[in-house]
Amino acid sequence: MLIHQTVEEIRQTVKKARSQGLTIGFVPTMGYFHEGHLVLMREAKRLCDFVIVSIFVNPMQFGPQEDFARYPRDLERDLDLAGKAQVDAVFSPTTEEMYPAGFSTAVEVEGITESLCGHSRPGHFKGVATVVTMLFNIVSPDKAFFGQKDAQQALVIKRMVRDLQMPLEIVVVPTVREDDGLAMSSRNIFLNPAERKASLCLKKSMETAGQMVAGGEFEVSKILSAVREIITNEPLALIDYVEILSLPDLKPVANLSGPVLLAMAVRFGKTRLIDNTVLCPGGVSYVFNDVKI
Ligand code: PAF
Repeated sequence: MLIHQTVEEIRQTVKKARSQGLTIGFVPTMGYFHEGHLVLMREAKRLCDFVIVSIFVNPMQFGPQEDFARYPRDLERDLDLAGKAQVDAVFSPTTEEMYPAGFSTAVEVEGITESLCGHSRPGHFKGVATVVTMLFNIVSPDKAFFGQKDAQQALVIKRMVRDLQMPLEIVVVPTVREDDGLAMSSRNIFLNPAERKASLCLKKSMETAGQMVAGGEFEVSKILSAVREIITNEPLALIDYVEILSLPDLKPVANLSGPVLLAMAVRFGKTRLIDNTVLCPGGVSYVFNDVKI
């Protein structure tokens, strides 16, 4: 597995792979891999010939009060896991490589970035859209892979790729969960045992919402009340947001007349977790990756 820190080196590797006629799959990450990342890498390997993974904790997508400094990092372990997942090349640039002195450009996606995490983390999606654009320009992949756990991020990137005519396909891969239902996240290691147990209220609340919809309840306010009650009943949980919004535009809805996104951000102590599910009326199934944006 090749390991590069500079834009010039990874560009050479991409050029070589392209000259051999290989298709390029790209998995952008902030490292500290868990099974969710590895599933993205395996999916990239399944659909593309040459897989590149980037590891870069992007300062631009963290607010001043957020967890950039304490975001978990372990490059050696990540390289080992990427190698085992048959990744062909890793790009792990320094901050200076990505943001040289005088850096002054940003990419902003409007509308769908105003709700959910865009609302509670101002500037977050500007940072994500900017770094992902840079990474796409550096790697020029045929396909890039994102997890559904960051559903809003996946929609923002899809919209950006469509609007800016970026020549690649975005593949969204279903959320990977622990056996007990907690969505995998690099931040889960920060949960103490009591918080870890409390975090199961997220999955439980989404299951209840699914059951309500299956039972014919389509009124959003009623579903939201039930979801919020389950989370609020957990003393260690503090709701940042719990919302049901339309797909793919993330606009408020009063009733379910098609698939909608139930999305939540909840704090357990110092750790903020996000999760989501798609609620579909009438037993329709919804493949997030097929969403037309
Ligand atoms: O999902 C992430 O890990 C990050 O937001 C991404 C896409 C790598 C951009 O920094």
